[in-house]
Amino acid sequence: MDLKKVGQQYERQELKRETLKDSPIEQLEEWMQLAITAKIPYANAANLATVDANGYPKSRIILIKEIKDSSLVFFTNYNSAKAQDIERNNKVSLNIYWKELDRQVRVTGKAHKVPTEESREYFYSRPRESQISAIASNQSHIVDKSELYDKVQELELLYKDKPVEFPNFWGGFSIDVESIEFWQGRPNRLHDRFLYSKSGQNWSIDRLAP
Ligand SMILES: Cc1cc2nc3c(=O)[nH]c(=O)nc-3n(C[C@H](O)[C@H](O)[C@H](O)COP(=O)(O)O)c2cc1C
Repeated sequence: MDLKKVGQQYERQELKRETLKDSPIEQLEEWMQLAITAKIPYANAANLATVDANGYPKSRIILIKEIKDSSLVFFTNYNSAKAQDIERNNKVSLNIYWKELDRQVRVTGKAHKVPTEESREYFYSRPRESQISAIASNQSHIVDKSELYDKVQELELLYKDKPVEFPNFWGGFSIDVESIEFWQGRPNRLHDRFLYSKSGQNWSIDRLAP
């Protein structure tokens, strides 16, 4: 399949240095809000890259559930492949792409487990079916489909008349942001790129060549 002729023309507005927020988190919140207001499907989806035990980068989509202070939070199974990667090396990268806005955001940072109370609170805010599926699924491990469905049924029966027990192998990771690059597609490949890098408590901002 030859995709070389699949062209793109970027007609969106300029991203100007003088209108950038001092904080990349505030800038990200502004872009995220716009993506949500524009009803972009999966506006909070991001590609999370980790490095596996053999040094290979691995990525997968996750949903960012919170942006706060200088961190981004997502939830997952702590026994999953990504969580094991983070256990060994907590340096991660996130990539958000809103094609409808010709925008990309690239984040690097270090991931840490969030306090159990936060995970518990989010766990119980989810539908009961999702709570049960989260317990039934030993994420990233080889599974037999009928065994998985049997397990779901078994748990539905077990928790028929009582709250689902919070699984201690499930929870959030908070990514403490160290750099964020904002990319705005522009005509003739002269895209705008601004990189925020942390220096002490402050952020430096540099324009990068497209
Ligand atoms: C739109 C979308 C959202 C997803 N959100 C999450 C999420 O928030 N947390 C999660 O663990 N997996 C999520 N997944 C599934 C992951 O992409 C992945 O399949 C799973 O986490 C196992 O990854 P791992 O084996 O590398 O750990 C999502 C997938 C898609 C396509």
